[in-house]
Amino acid sequence: MAYDIDMIKKVYDQMADRVTKAREVVGKPLTLAEKILYSHLWDGEATKAYERAKDYVEFSPDRIACQDATAQMALLQFMQAGKKKVAVPTTVHCDHLIQAKMGAAIDLQSANKSSSEVFDFLESVSNKYGIGFWKPGAGIIHQVVLENYAFPGGMMIGTDSHTVNAGGLGMVAIGVGGADAVDVMAGMPWELKFPKLIGVKLTGKLSGWTAPKDVILKVAGILTVKGGTGAIIEYFGEGARSMSCTGKGTICNMGAEVGATTSTFGYDESMERYLKATNREDVAEAANVVKEHLTGDDEVYANPEQYFDEVIEINLSELKPHLNGPFTPDLATPISEMGEKAKENDWPINVDWGLIGSCTNSSYEDLTRAASIAKQAVDKKIKSKSDFGINPGSEQIRYTAERDGLLQIFEDLDATVFTNACGPCIGQWDRSDRKGEEKNTIVHSFNRNFSKRADGNPNTHAFVGSPEMVAAIAISGRLDFDPTRDKLINEDGEEVMLDEPQGIELPTKGFAVEDAGYIAPKEDGSSVEVKVAEDSERLQLLTPFEPWDGKNLTGAKLLIKAWGKCTTDHISMAGPWLRYRGHLDNISNNCLIGAVNAYNKKTNFVKNQLTGEYDGVPAVQREYKKEGVPTVVVGDHNYGEGSSREHAAMEPRHLGVKVVLVKSFARIHETNLKKQGMLALTFVNENDYDLIQEDDTFNFVDLAEFAPDKEITIEIVHADGSKDTIKAEHTYNLPQIEWYKHGSALNLIKKENAA
Ligand code: F3S
Repeated sequence: MAYDIDMIKKVYDQMADRVTKAREVVGKPLTLAEKILYSHLWDGEATKAYERAKDYVEFSPDRIACQDATAQMALLQFMQAGKKKVAVPTTVHCDHLIQAKMGAAIDLQSANKSSSEVFDFLESVSNKYGIGFWKPGAGIIHQVVLENYAFPGGMMIGTDSHTVNAGGLGMVAIGVGGADAVDVMAGMPWELKFPKLIGVKLTGKLSGWTAPKDVILKVAGILTVKGGTGAIIEYFGEGARSMSCTGKGTICNMGAEVGATTSTFGYDESMERYLKATNREDVAEAANVVKEHLTGDDEVYANPEQYFDEVIEINLSELKPHLNGPFTPDLATPISEMGEKAKENDWPINVDWGLIGSCTNSSYEDLTRAASIAKQAVDKKIKSKSDFGINPGSEQIRYTAERDGLLQIFEDLDATVFTNACGPCIGQWDRSDRKGEEKNTIVHSFNRNFSKRADGNPNTHAFVGSPEMVAAIAISGRLDFDPTRDKLINEDGEEVMLDEPQGIELPTKGFAVEDAGYIAPKEDGSSVEVKVAEDSERLQLLTPFEPWDGKNLTGAKLLIKAWGKCTTDHISMAGPWLRYRGHLDNISNNCLIGAVNAYNKKTNFVKNQLTGEYDGVPAVQREYKKEGVPTVVVGDHNYGEGSSREHAAMEPRHLGVKVVLVKSFARIHETNLKKQGMLALTFVNENDYDLIQEDDTFNFVDLAEFAPDKEITIEIVHADGSKDTIKAEHTYNLPQIEWYKHGSALNLIKKENAA
């Protein structure tokens, strides 16, 4: 399991000097987020104050965590870097590819069968390159990270949006695309736009039915799904200190639902207790030594308006339990108003399922609070009206909860205990009770509730609440049930009420586990063979992209002129294609199939200039590649917005597209294109987009002189022989031009490693 105490101590050793220096250059007291950011600068001590929401800054994260779905392409790429080991401590967690259906034992067996090649591949790569491997059933990435690796004041990146969960233990932990993780694994810096800072002051204390989950449900209602974009949310105040560490994790976890870069809390006694309970006494001791640097400066919290870009204040003593949804996590409704709102909106009142777990809410405290409600149902002879599903967050939690009789309480209510994995939270749920698309309601303690997320049914109305509220509502079977007010009728026909939930923060007998599911890598993995079957449909080892020949590019044909919005989803669709995310050639059959052809306004229907026929984009591009004809993709504004999905850059490159020429790029996609050795250009005059015709040929007549800040001249030859000459610009700096010359950033790293 081996968290790296030496690495943690090194971070703490540097912290005092770096924080002091940062305070000096910034010229004012610092928030916790600033302390962590400035003490993780790639170049060491701060030399200037960065402008929030403007400056791009290079950082040096302490850890990386990857889940099984996103790890595949990340590790395939890392293998290209020619490194013997990952440059920073990294773990891989198998949690996304396990379906919930019959219950843990059977479901885990089927996953081990259906995804064995992916699991075997991830295990062998991990073993070879010094990566810790958490096998299927070991738990959900973010719960396992919180229990084993997160530490106050640390910086982590992870290839999953809810990496932010580790903010509950005082980290700055950020979800990234595979390409970013590969950079850091290969020893390169990680770049981030210096975030804005939102402060959330928590006063008062939670009580009764109100849980940490209600804090973030309330914040989501205030900020909405976009309100946290580009910002770190920092929680502080007596209310923050009064909550458990795992409760803080829940709040940070759902910061992803307001679009926040991440969320964090200052180090306090709840974190110390959690570290000690999870066998990390030494981390707690080391943190105690530097604790003044592991929280924001007093002056910041005394006058937050002066130091944060936005401040929200929530009085926990007055906060009411909420349910958010359906279809969006920011539609916040206090439980007491749900009946009325459901009627107004015609939401189905009967609740079919109550699902408890996910990386958001599967701590020991969560399970005890929910179990305290479930137990009352049994004791008071109330039969649950809805089905129950439980996904423990980790084997350690499951084992401990079983030992302490918590799982038995749920089983007494006929609950199904699914594998310690994501399951219904990521749509890996073979739901047996509804096969059609009927309108229905479920409640869960997860984070996301977008249409189709849990069961693929667009008419499933999913509501998000705390585990104890999910338990109460599921028992009642009614969305309009308010346990603080409403009574239930038991099997003897008596009216009974549910008492307030009771929780236990940490197991009194300590955590226990027989086999946590961790496989340590070999000290020297050089002899380990990475397992990929030749005929695999899902995995394919990568072949390095060809380097640039240093010449001008001529005779390039237009593949597609994309019209309007062209996001990474249009360029590399998700859904069923995710099955192939470890097989570049197979997933390339979705390349640009969602982009709208400017000439016929159709998707996946473009002209093959060699034959004059129309066909799908990947098919036409494969024809050009076969004939050795280079191609150009033309796009509109903000091309490649949406996500950091590296497949959107790798697929066109793999299929032989040479240039992407657009009005403007989404920055992350532009960088991804550069990393993959593609020429990413923008029109100097955006109206030149209109000059481009369906049968055009492009000559890049001065590409041979490719240099920073130098425009590139493009001669466009139309079908009738007439020509237009236009200028394109680019943002390549010298090192990035080296990526282009070598065919990709990884090719360059490999060369440098070999030298
Ligand atoms: Fe898994 Fe859902 Fe969390 S997919 S990582 S449990 S958000």
